[in-house]
Amino acid sequence: MAYPVERLQRNRQSPQIREFMKEIRLSPEDLIMPLFIHEGRSESVEIPSMPGCYQHSLANIVEEATHIAQLGIPAVILFGIPTHKDNEGSSASDQEGVIQQAIQMIKEQVPELLVIADCCCCEYTDHGHCGPLKDGELDHDATLARYQDIALSYAKAGADIIAPSGMMDGMVQAIRGKLDQDEFTHLPILSYSVKYASAFYGPFRQAGGAGDVFTSDRAHHQMAITQSQEAFREAQLDEDEGADMLMVKPAMSYLDIIHQLKAQQRRPILAYHVSGEYAMIKAAAAAGIVSEADAFEEQLIALKRAGAHKIITYYAKEYAQSYGSKKEQT
Ligand code: PBG
Repeated sequence: MAYPVERLQRNRQSPQIREFMKEIRLSPEDLIMPLFIHEGRSESVEIPSMPGCYQHSLANIVEEATHIAQLGIPAVILFGIPTHKDNEGSSASDQEGVIQQAIQMIKEQVPELLVIADCCCCEYTDHGHCGPLKDGELDHDATLARYQDIALSYAKAGADIIAPSGMMDGMVQAIRGKLDQDEFTHLPILSYSVKYASAFYGPFRQAGGAGDVFTSDRAHHQMAITQSQEAFREAQLDEDEGADMLMVKPAMSYLDIIHQLKAQQRRPILAYHVSGEYAMIKAAAAAGIVSEADAFEEQLIALKRAGAHKIITYYAKEYAQSYGSKKEQT
């Protein structure tokens, strides 16, 4: 059948029909808000590279979490900026550390909000690498032991989901084993399974308070942008090691990977719309060359259409706010 019998515009002719035909519906429930918490601050400070995002303090984190939950966003993912950094990233597993305190405070005061704890050393080491260095090289086995300790401290603090982000071989198995040994068999692991060595993490490195020591070269453990077969092996290994959810990161340049993983794997796929992806829309909007709300909605819908079950995005709050005010108008 072809034109003039077939007319696709029939299904687009009015706002009501367009609404009726919608395949994808985005709502705040699809989103996860990342939060940075700075141990040394008493108030929130805006991150210069990420306008509209803040380094929060422990003093205001409950207020922020309450607001996020009220907007209908189901989960947050936490990143800490400690006052003390060393070779081992020892403050990352401190039971009184900034993230452990934040988890406890949020779970006490806003229990309905799921707390995902990012598990890595890179914000906690004085050299900015994802684990301890030995003779100038990353010490792989020592790194896995660090991840075990960090994960356990998050579990004890009350985290709902542990999210190892270092892309180290064997990290899911190491963490699962440790959690099970300590009777946290119920605690899910969201693995950053497919994490590319990307240019789009730039603003995060400023947000994470790492400055120049956060080296951009992580090519020995993050994936090269040229690879796709490897992505499926990474995801499969994580499944085999016991990951409950898989993540693809960054988001927009990897829609093909999300789409294929969704078809192949039997685990929910989450997408991380990263700091650079956020900052680029902010910059384009500030320059007056895109409509900001339309641009980020288009990207978030594309991720859902590709197969992402949930999306981690710095736009979560802004999207939920505009969603709420649209609802009020109708
Ligand atoms: C590592 C980590 C990074 C991001 C999240 N977790 C930085 C990196 O791998 O270099 C980046 C997130 C973003 O850019 O928004 N713990």
